Amino acid sequence: MKLPSSTATNLEKPQLKHFLKTQDYTKEELTEIFDLMAMLKEARKANAVPQLFKGKSIGMIFEQPSTRTRVSFETAATILGGHALFLSPKDIHLGGKENIADTSRVLSRMVDIMMARVDDHKTVADLAKHATVPVINGLCDWLHPTQMMADVFTMMEHLPEGKELSDLTVAFVGDATNVASSLMFICTKFGMNYKHIGPKKYQPPQSWVDTALENCKLSGGSFTLTEDTEEVKGCDVLVADSFYWFGQEDEKEDRLSTFIPKYVITQEMMDKAGPECQFMHCLPANDSRECTREVMESPRSVIFDEAENRLTAQMALLVYFTHKDIVIPSEETVKFHEDKIENFLKTL
Ligand code: CP
Repeated sequence: MKLPSSTATNLEKPQLKHFLKTQDYTKEELTEIFDLMAMLKEARKANAVPQLFKGKSIGMIFEQPSTRTRVSFETAATILGGHALFLSPKDIHLGGKENIADTSRVLSRMVDIMMARVDDHKTVADLAKHATVPVINGLCDWLHPTQMMADVFTMMEHLPEGKELSDLTVAFVGDATNVASSLMFICTKFGMNYKHIGPKKYQPPQSWVDTALENCKLSGGSFTLTEDTEEVKGCDVLVADSFYWFGQEDEKEDRLSTFIPKYVITQEMMDKAGPECQFMHCLPANDSRECTREVMESPRSVIFDEAENRLTAQMALLVYFTHKDIVIPSEETVKFHEDKIENFLKTL
């Protein structure tokens, strides 16, 4: 039986793009994703999100625990009409019976997009190298790019009156974490004045600083690296993150004694920054270490808007990376397959 000619909108497969780091994207491309976030957030509030992920699946590999990243991607897929698969190392063969290349090629044949939260950036880079569907970095030892989409969007939502994004002065206070790296990259790309404030021993490597300075040359932003917490004065946003993460437990005592009390974001530090300064944290937060509960609960804290915007970001990322593969079959093609299968079932 001959397949009828189809009027399907079978768009040419675009060049495959992954979302491993925001540095791979121009300011204009990232702005397109922010625009999409705004529209999808508005649609969600109206309970009218277009089913742009219908019939699609995201395979989510998690080598580390997660609340926000897992729930936001899973919920985003559902809201958009699709499905999310949670794949922990206990559930799949990755790194045990099967290598990354084979796992990536197999998952690519079954899901429409992959997301991986991994211990080592190389793992997510290797997944992407062998994938034939887009791969999103859901956090690695170096970067946390999906968090940045939520963070900058939250800054846009809470811009001080009369200011644009490029007018902001943002200070990250603490350790050179994956959030610190990603934040310094995206803020300098968007022309903000960015400060990393932390003890010399745990400051960012020169390669990160070079990237931030290169971004500033293009964007007109500025970058400051300092140990001096007096630098919080005049900042629009102070950002905190954990003082140690998975794999750094051996350094815990040294880290805590180095960071506490000088680099803890307290109400006193917020007041020093200024009366309009906002507080951000990707969460989970430890309110007896990097910040106080008082700051987290204060009116200037936007941490729960920031967390909600993880969902906003994931909706946009799912749509942004899969919409070009949408194939709408003609009624004739659908009828052809219906009839063929129905006729076959009658013979059973
Ligand atoms: N901020 C963040 O990535 O949170 P989870 O570890 O809960 O995913």
